[in-house]
Amino acid sequence: MARQSAPGLDSLKNSGENARLFERRRTSQGLTNMYEADNAPTILGIETSCDETSAAVVIGSHKVLSSVVATQFDVHAKYGGVVPELASRAHIENLDGVIQEAMARADVTRQDIDAIAVTNRPGLVGCLLIGVTAAKTLALAWNKPLVAVNHAHAHACSPAIDLPDDGPEPWPAIALVVSGGHSSLFLVRDPLNVELLGATIDDASGEAFDKVAMVLNLGFPGGPVIERIARGGNPRACQFPRTMLGRDSLDFSFSGLKTAVLYRVHGPGRTSGGLERLSQQDIADIAASFQAAVVDVLVAKTMLAVEKMGVRTVMVGGGVAANSELRTALSTTCNERGITLHLAPMKYCTDNGAMVAALAGYYLKAGRTDSLAIDPWAVM
Ligand code: KG4
Ligand code: ZN
Repeated sequence: MARQSAPGLDSLKNSGENARLFERRRTSQGLTNMYEADNAPTILGIETSCDETSAAVVIGSHKVLSSVVATQFDVHAKYGGVVPELASRAHIENLDGVIQEAMARADVTRQDIDAIAVTNRPGLVGCLLIGVTAAKTLALAWNKPLVAVNHAHAHACSPAIDLPDDGPEPWPAIALVVSGGHSSLFLVRDPLNVELLGATIDDASGEAFDKVAMVLNLGFPGGPVIERIARGGNPRACQFPRTMLGRDSLDFSFSGLKTAVLYRVHGPGRTSGGLERLSQQDIADIAASFQAAVVDVLVAKTMLAVEKMGVRTVMVGGGVAANSELRTALSTTCNERGITLHLAPMKYCTDNGAMVAALAGYYLKAGRTDSLAIDPWAVM
């Protein structure tokens, strides 16, 4: 589309006129007809909420043509956690190439793209801003509708991505979202109707994995390395707490567990000096016992949510959903209780643009789009 000069982000953000113009243009494109014509939209999904720069091309909500993820492990490894400023800079450097790669692998051009979807909340605001700015720019330059997506909702619905296009959708369901930023339980009535039932009151489960890995000097990100080390350990070696926050609570707390690991390593009340005295077996036992405590709490709370809400389907997404102990424990428990379980496919557990585009597919089907006035938000 020929355009004299693209307005800057600030003017876009503050310009109701721009948003209204865009709204009109979009309506005249007959967006909701995309589905009526039995022709599901081709969506470019963009994800930059934390430390993965990702783009994907998805048709509707189930057909992933491409999914490209550029991780930033090397950037953050020496700090033992994500450094927001460095993450934002890496997104700037990577995003353009990642989008081009996603479109090339999907073998599509801009003419084939029907809508641009982007995570605009929750996440690191500086990181979100990069993706949101890119998405707005493409929506404006290519004259495509823009769809803002809640990252946690995208994780919640990610187990549906690989389900067949013409089969039943998995909702209503309880969705457990466990990642570096979240430990949340949702009631997913459908993708447009997602209710938060409980969340962490301190550390997220993935954050606990990362911090415990730092205490044990195992590297970053902590989840995969703890899982690996734990295979050689005894999950009953250390008596770590399972914090339930009351019989009826659907909230989570992992900071007590993290402190218990710290004191197990260094001695009661101490925060340094103990690691050198531990053997490799001690470290494996601590990792296995920590992981078992996290898994026990996540499974128990998910089952409590199932009972309270009276639904018979569970979905699990987010980086920690890649943990094989958690996957096995949930499978066993759901199987015993006759509950249907949909685990996010491994490739869609950690952050990715496919889950963003796929959720936008449901929004588009319902005629829901956003104006260029969307902002990034740190909170849900
Ligand atoms: O969903 P995600 O990529 O980013 C956020 O939205 O936060 O999740 C990243 C988190 C990290 O904390 C990482 O340690 C954890 O997921 N993680 C795991 C595993 N793989 C990644 N935690 C436990 N076991 C794993 N296999
Ligand atoms: Zn995430």
